[in-house]
Amino acid sequence: MLKICVSVLMLLFGMTAFGAGKLDIGKIEYEQSCANCHGMDGKGKGSIAQTFQLSVPDITTMAKRNGGVFPVSRVYDLIDGREEVKAHGTREMPIWGKYYSLGAAPRYDDYPYNPEAAVRGRILALIDYLYRLQQK
Ligand code: HEC
Repeated sequence: MLKICVSVLMLLFGMTAFGAGKLDIGKIEYEQSCANCHGMDGKGKGSIAQTFQLSVPDITTMAKRNGGVFPVSRVYDLIDGREEVKAHGTREMPIWGKYYSLGAAPRYDDYPYNPEAAVRGRILALIDYLYRLQQK
């Protein structure tokens, strides 16, 4: 009996330890690059937004405002920003596609790489996190 209890406890401990160590790349990226404008909770009250009085939208209501469907492709293009800026001129949001593309080079300095794949990976991780921030 004791053996069983100990094994169950070890299993539970193992599971929580595994859960705690799980990397949430989208969340880390959001907190590093976006939260200072969009706020930790996504509601648009980050410190830079308040200091410079930027009008930053609440990104937790993107699905709600789109008939309950999270607009993945539009959000992707908004974050990337390179095509949008070509089409409409300037915007207040940084152009993350350009930033991530330039940022990929030092990571792969001795290895052939595709900067577009690096950009896509980072934006998709962010989209996964933004999806989880949506209000139901
Ligand atoms: C310098 C401040 C700033 C930072 C940093 C920033 N944003 Fe934004 N974001 C804005 C502003 C301002 C808008 C409103 C559109 C505009 O003016 O460009 C916006 C709009 C958006 C939108 C569209 C929201 C909607 O409701 O249509 C998304 C999605 C978004 N940002 C995601 C991000 C992500 C993801 C990051 C981090 C990688 C980020 N933003 C970093 C300022 C910022």
